[in-house]
Amino acid sequence: MELDHGAAIVTGAAGGIGSVIARRLTAAGMSVVMADLDATRLESERASVLGAYPDARVVAVRGDVGDTAHHADLVDAAESLGGLRLAVLNAGVSLQGLSWELPLEQWELTTRVNYWGVVHGLRAALSTMVPRGDGWVVAVSSGAGLVATPGMAPYVATKHAVVGFMESTHHELARIGSPVGVSVICPGNIATDMPDRTPDVRSAEEGETDPAHREVVATLGSTIRSGVEAGADPATVADALCDGVAAEQFWILPQPELAWAATDRTRRLAEGEPPVDLLG
Ligand SMILES: NC(=O)c1ccc[n+]([C@@H]2O[C@H](COP(=O)([O-])OP(=O)(O)OC[C@H]3O[C@@H](n4cnc5c(N)ncnc54)[C@H](O)[C@@H]3O)[C@@H](O)[C@H]2O)c1
Repeated sequence: MELDHGAAIVTGAAGGIGSVIARRLTAAGMSVVMADLDATRLESERASVLGAYPDARVVAVRGDVGDTAHHADLVDAAESLGGLRLAVLNAGVSLQGLSWELPLEQWELTTRVNYWGVVHGLRAALSTMVPRGDGWVVAVSSGAGLVATPGMAPYVATKHAVVGFMESTHHELARIGSPVGVSVICPGNIATDMPDRTPDVRSAEEGETDPAHREVVATLGSTIRSGVEAGADPATVADALCDGVAAEQFWILPQPELAWAATDRTRRLAEGEPPVDLLG
């Protein structure tokens, strides 16, 4: 699908990956609705995009992706900017701890943002795109949607869920013969501020972490953080996304080597071997 006209929605556009995607789509010629919960950073990112592309049409809409009304606002904004053609459902959070010790609030927040945020965004976008017979939706999952690592079970679970429901939706659109399509993008480690963003929710330290497990949790946390810090540039994701949508691919892997980890997982499944801890 061409990315040189019409409007795109990008959620999580005040963050590392989302802001680069918004900038790349603007450069390609799309009008962009930048959305995020963080109004201050969002406005500053919008100003930065407009500084680089003064003739572009870029609007900022503050809201929570867990709220269905927010997605209706985003679709309305895109429609008034020339018609919604692309939705990039990118907002996400990541919280660390052991699955049975993490405060329930952290499970609920992760599910609200990473899972329901994508479900609501996809439903709102496809309700407009499918009757019109034009458009594309990209969900930002993760390598953690293809393989499971320890220390971030809510993140892994929600990113797997996103892969599954995007794949189902892909089949459903084909069954109705729609030209509208969907992709799921699964980045590996990308150098952003994600580990430093502390959502306003009870922390693992305030939760029920067993003192005997604190060292394991701290080690996992620092391994995850160093992986992100040493990750690829967010532009890697924006490039892969634009190329993947232009080529109308379902699977978009900015770091193709991730497919081998997923293949090894499937081989272990077929051969009855236990899963491997990729952070080990
Ligand atoms: N950084 C990585 O290593 C990595 C790897 C794979 C996938 N991802 C995924 O890429 C996406 C972007 O991550 P990032 O690394 O740019 O992180 P980031 O923290 O820099 O950006 C995420 C953005 O989402 C916003 N957000 C959080 N909760 C929200 C809510 N309820 N409603 C609206 N916006 C909300 C945040 O304000 C932030 O601007 C996420 O879905 C993440 O899971 C990141």
